[in-house]
Amino acid sequence: MAGELVPADYFRRLEHAELCGDGRPLEVDLGCGDGAFLLAMARQFPERDFLGVERLLGRVRKVCKKLTRNELSNGRVLRLESRYTVEWLLPEASLARLHLLCPDPWPKVRHHRRRLVQVEFVAAVRRALVPGGEFLFMTDHEEYFAWAGEQVAASGGFELLEWPENAFFYPKTDFQRQWEAEGKTMWRLRYRKPAE
Ligand SMILES: C[S@@+](CC[C@H](N)C(=O)[O-])C[C@H]1O[C@@H](n2cnc3c(N)ncnc32)[C@H](O)[C@@H]1O
Repeated sequence: MAGELVPADYFRRLEHAELCGDGRPLEVDLGCGDGAFLLAMARQFPERDFLGVERLLGRVRKVCKKLTRNELSNGRVLRLESRYTVEWLLPEASLARLHLLCPDPWPKVRHHRRRLVQVEFVAAVRRALVPGGEFLFMTDHEEYFAWAGEQVAASGGFELLEWPENAFFYPKTDFQRQWEAEGKTMWRLRYRKPAE
């Protein structure tokens, strides 16, 4: 399928060249859903490469079709689980930015261990980012927002940056549009891996 990234081997780390063009910054959108954010970013920044990660086949197909229809060769989608992708497939120091937008909040206390943002996951995000790279997180769930901040602080190695609305080009996601239309507030966190 055009636009889909299918690794030759799911049990070894990918090479940088399998993910993006030589010298081009790479951004990953975890749980890209129907791809509104991914497509708008790929269109806006033709000099960067974008990889959506999504576990649902129907959504992966939909995003691939949209990428093809819009002739966006700098966007691809990987059908895989987000944590596995970050912890086991992404090469070290390969990402300029990692976006985790409107992830499932798993609100019940007994389900908190299913949340993607955990200390070990944060450490894996840090490994995958280039020095100076950014981790951006957005949720409508205030308690998950607080949780994510605590996990990042406990994991360490990130600087918290300001993220005022409209500070830079940042297209709305499909879920964000829906939730804002319902009057919900979006909670954002923006971190940088310090440049060495
Ligand atoms: C609430 S939706 C948000 C979609 C998109 N980021 C947005 O804001 O419109 C969460 C998306 O993440 C996907 N997802 C949830 N958990 C995942 C996981 N562990 N690995 C990969 N995709 C996942 C879901 O299938 C869904 O498309």
